[in-house]
Amino acid sequence: MLQEKGYIGTPRNRVDGRAKVTGEAKYAAEFDAPDLAYGIVVSSAIAKGRIASIDADAALAVPGVLQVFTHENRPRTAWFDINFRDETAPPGSPFRPLYDDKVVYSGQPVALVVAESFEIAAYAASLVRIAYEPETHMTDLDIQRDEAYVPPRKRTGVKRPPSPRGDPDGAFEQAPVKVHGEYRVAIEHHNPMETHASTVVYEEDGTLTIHDKTQGSQNSQSYVSSVFGLSSDQVRVISPFVGGAFGSGLRPQYQLFLAVMAALELKRSVRVVLTRDQMFTFGYRPLTIQTISLGANPDGKLVSIMHDAIQTTSPWEDYQEVVVNWSNLLYHCDNVKLTYRLSQVDTYTPIDMRAPGAALGVTAIETAMDELAYAAGIDPVELRLRNYAEMDEADKKYFTSKELRACYQLGAERFGWARRNPEPRSMREGRELIGWGMASGVWEAIMQRVAARAALTPDDRLEVASATADIGTGTYTILTQIAAETLGLPMESVTTKIGDSSLPKSPVEGGSWTAASAGSAVQKACLSVREQLFKYARRMDDSPLANASIEQVTFAGGRIHMTNDPSAGVTLQQAMQAGGVDRVEAEEKSSMGLLKNMRYSGYSHSAIFAEVRVDEELGVVRVTRIVNAVAAGTILNPKTARSQILGGVVFGIGMALEEESMLDHNLGRFMNHNLAEYHVPVNADVYDIDVIFVSEHEERLNPLGVKGLGEIGVIGTAAAIGNAIYHATGKRIRDYPITIDKLLG
Ligand code: MOS
Repeated sequence: MLQEKGYIGTPRNRVDGRAKVTGEAKYAAEFDAPDLAYGIVVSSAIAKGRIASIDADAALAVPGVLQVFTHENRPRTAWFDINFRDETAPPGSPFRPLYDDKVVYSGQPVALVVAESFEIAAYAASLVRIAYEPETHMTDLDIQRDEAYVPPRKRTGVKRPPSPRGDPDGAFEQAPVKVHGEYRVAIEHHNPMETHASTVVYEEDGTLTIHDKTQGSQNSQSYVSSVFGLSSDQVRVISPFVGGAFGSGLRPQYQLFLAVMAALELKRSVRVVLTRDQMFTFGYRPLTIQTISLGANPDGKLVSIMHDAIQTTSPWEDYQEVVVNWSNLLYHCDNVKLTYRLSQVDTYTPIDMRAPGAALGVTAIETAMDELAYAAGIDPVELRLRNYAEMDEADKKYFTSKELRACYQLGAERFGWARRNPEPRSMREGRELIGWGMASGVWEAIMQRVAARAALTPDDRLEVASATADIGTGTYTILTQIAAETLGLPMESVTTKIGDSSLPKSPVEGGSWTAASAGSAVQKACLSVREQLFKYARRMDDSPLANASIEQVTFAGGRIHMTNDPSAGVTLQQAMQAGGVDRVEAEEKSSMGLLKNMRYSGYSHSAIFAEVRVDEELGVVRVTRIVNAVAAGTILNPKTARSQILGGVVFGIGMALEEESMLDHNLGRFMNHNLAEYHVPVNADVYDIDVIFVSEHEERLNPLGVKGLGEIGVIGTAAAIGNAIYHATGKRIRDYPITIDKLLG
């Protein structure tokens, strides 16, 4: 007998795994179209100024070149009049490719060369001659920090820091134990394996089918239709598979605009793919300078928390993250001041990158807490327990659930933390110093309104559909599990369709909200199908379920039967026949959670323990062991969930030791714009990662009890590693990544 029940909470292989490893899963740049033309982007060589002239004659003379689009000949679009902002845009006026002669950042697209083949387009692009009139640019936050401003509140979903409470300055002044420092995390770029690409298929009737690399097919769809003044049924965006994104696909990127513009002008299908170095010419994780002051009593109890952050944004948009709020969310304190400001630099606008804000803010506070542990002479875990926040003190709300204590305990046990000698440089093996460090993690458990459709057909096939996305996170798999379990069908009978703007409405996939939000929508739609089927089943002649209520029956094996008597039942097919239908369909929306009007705050939590080995002479750091204990409510699929945490931890290793987009301030340009010089952790950098899911009962956020896992894995990981490096070496580096030069310096 097939197993139909108990899918939720069990480890399952990815339903899209086979398609991915066989190449059957196609990505945005892999779709073909008749007469497909190829566009290559020409990027600006200066950071600021104007384009004096563009000489495209040589490029246009190359046989096979169709057009060279620049600001001088680009078509007029609706966008240039209405200033349309996409769903995820920060306040401000979005960047418009080829708008005019102004250059506002280095790498800005200034021309698109379209040709019959990729090779011709690439060659012709090298022949475009552009003369610039440069102006003075500024990309250095160390200079610009004096210009920092509190961003405007309008039109942003980002939570502001709470108002100050108590007397944080006075309490710090008086505190017997103090820590004060400036913390930095370098600029990072997302660098997903799949570079950004759009294949715009120009259909015979003039409508567009667009294969776009995006985390939100409907966001791209509404962007294209608004910007180009098309009706929504003239544009369909499809993106069933995404080769990683980490936030880089939250906003429609400029290749989409350029490919659509060219397709509409040439009345022909066009593909534009960004090169790896062009992946450094749009959003990034902003540079952040944080200042933290912690005051405590000799017993380690915090009497003052002050946490300030200054982040980069572009001159045209006020990009914002939640950076500083986490300090008080993690730790109880009566005197708190959290401040957040922006400063403009001449780069593109930053964009969310896995755990935006928290990945930075928690890195700083958790490094500072380790310093406090040493200053007070208290074990780092014990220090955190003494300052444990029982409630969200800023909002004066209780948590929907919070098993962070269990994370500390189980993580510490698994790691062997009790054997730690707190003395720095106390462990050594051969030429390597060994260090153990830990940190906490916290991330908001967000619910979004997502719609989903479920449809059952006579062959016992169930199709569920929503416009949400799977960016490698496992969305396909968990939605399939939820649907199969709700209707008592084997997973093999379920087809899950996502990543298509024509499907029921969904916001972008992001913020770790998809499992909870899309999952709830799918569950609700399937429950609705279930009710209809049950109604039909009761109506059948001599129905064994005639007098039953839906609570008394079980859906299993393609049947509905009395829970207390499995022999008394009908098949789903019989129920459909009784109802005279050959399709049972329902569409439902997830609710936004009860949170909005309740006295609860929803967050996931974690405790990370790290072991490093540092070669004392060479400064080489190996992260030999990580234990990450996570409390995130119901774990729908321990296998895909574990992979999310593994990926997050690897991201954290990158933040701790390697990832850094280097700006040459003379040129105003990211110089290491390739994977040879922008270092990400590779297999040789990753040793043992142990993931623990702490049992956590969650019932307030959504019926599934899900909090989401896409981001919590990275949060705190860099700090745990930095703290382990301090324990190993006695060197406190407050400037991430902790590279060899900093360790030896
Ligand atoms: Mo995530 S940075 O919201 O894709």
